[in-house]
Amino acid sequence: MKRIGMGLVGPGFVGAHHIDAVRRLGFVDVVAVAASSDASARRKADALGVPTAYGSFEALVADPAVHVVHNTTPNYLHVPVILAALAHGKHVISDKPLAVTAADARRLLDAANKAGVVHAVTFNYRGNPLVQQAREMIAAGELGRVHFIHGAYLQDWLLEATDFSWRLEPEKGGASSAVGDIGSHWCDLVQHVTGRRIVEVLADLTTVVDTRLKPSASTEAFARSGDVAREAVRIHSEDLASILLRFDDGAKGSVSVGQVCAGHKNGLWFEVNGRQASVRWIQERQNELWIGRRDTANAVLAKDPSLLTPGARAYAHLPGGHQEAWADAFCNVMRDIYGVIAAGGQLSDHLPPAFATFEDGYHSACVVDAILESHRRGAVWTKVRAADVAEAAR
Ligand SMILES: NC(=O)c1ccc[n+]([C@@H]2O[C@H](COP(=O)([O-])OP(=O)(O)OC[C@H]3O[C@@H](n4cnc5c(N)ncnc54)[C@H](O)[C@@H]3O)[C@@H](O)[C@H]2O)c1
Repeated sequence: MKRIGMGLVGPGFVGAHHIDAVRRLGFVDVVAVAASSDASARRKADALGVPTAYGSFEALVADPAVHVVHNTTPNYLHVPVILAALAHGKHVISDKPLAVTAADARRLLDAANKAGVVHAVTFNYRGNPLVQQAREMIAAGELGRVHFIHGAYLQDWLLEATDFSWRLEPEKGGASSAVGDIGSHWCDLVQHVTGRRIVEVLADLTTVVDTRLKPSASTEAFARSGDVAREAVRIHSEDLASILLRFDDGAKGSVSVGQVCAGHKNGLWFEVNGRQASVRWIQERQNELWIGRRDTANAVLAKDPSLLTPGARAYAHLPGGHQEAWADAFCNVMRDIYGVIAAGGQLSDHLPPAFATFEDGYHSACVVDAILESHRRGAVWTKVRAADVAEAAR
């Protein structure tokens, strides 16, 4: 198999997992990383065992040995990094959110389509075997007509005033914090699993910790920054959200999103209720799928390739009783994306399931924009609209 060269811009918390995942595929060479300076790039490259270090993303995207550019920079850099990679005709795998506004996401989608390359967004929870099991069961009609899609994505790593991330600074993270950061995962996941689109939202957003003590040096996600110099800053973006949802086929839904909920580390879960049955998947117990029925006993399906539907089985790589986890699902997403790149780089209508494109990233940004607008208008029903094309073209 022809080897593929990968370069990564933004080697921070999630960047290391991109590198780990592509190395497991066996036909991808991690050739370069780019950070914000030569010194930090060299330090990160050495720590990750990557040969080439660049102090700017412009230099990395111009490297002919890099065929695929991974973007794991803070959100405000997604547009310049991705546009630079596309200008060099590179395939692009961006972490979420694709962009901080729908207009920017639309611009990236249009540019990627024009470049004719493979474009993907790492909505990584799609890569879980039991998520795919739920998706196949719903597509096969096993739940009957779906009427309710609900759940939550709760974390606690921003609970204390001393917790800080660039996500809370609008100029770096975008106008939305918790919703754009993790609510975007939940919305993509349930739309993927149910095959339905969110078309209208009603959102009530809250900033629980409205003053934070920002450390003078930057900190990584989930890190505690300890005893460092700090300054008090006002926070305007949400750390808690209650959202009602309407789907395109009339199904209703709701989701709670928060990063200030003590005890919840990566508390993503969803439940889908149909007229025949229900399914529930809890990320922190990701090797189980709860199946609810009215007239027979409820069941918990354990992740065991021999018990899964053929499509879901492709995402399970260990026998029953051998637990698979976050990094394995992440690798499944990369396997799907690189499979398309290796096959010639043409995006078709028949993408493998764990593959979210810029089209999905764009739709996700439209949902986040609608949530912000709903809240701004006083928590009223707000349609998910396409981005203003004129604004996107700017
Ligand atoms: N899919 C997931 O589950 C997941 C998890 C975490 C983060 N993310 C997303 O990944 C992105 C990065 O998040 P993170 O938590 O890893 O952040 P991070 O702050 O840990 O890492 C960002 C990295 O980008 C580097 N950087 C900053 N400016 C740069 C520049 N000009 N050029 C090159 N590199 C630069 C920083 O030095 C840092 O190493 C965000 O968009 C975030 O939403 C996704």
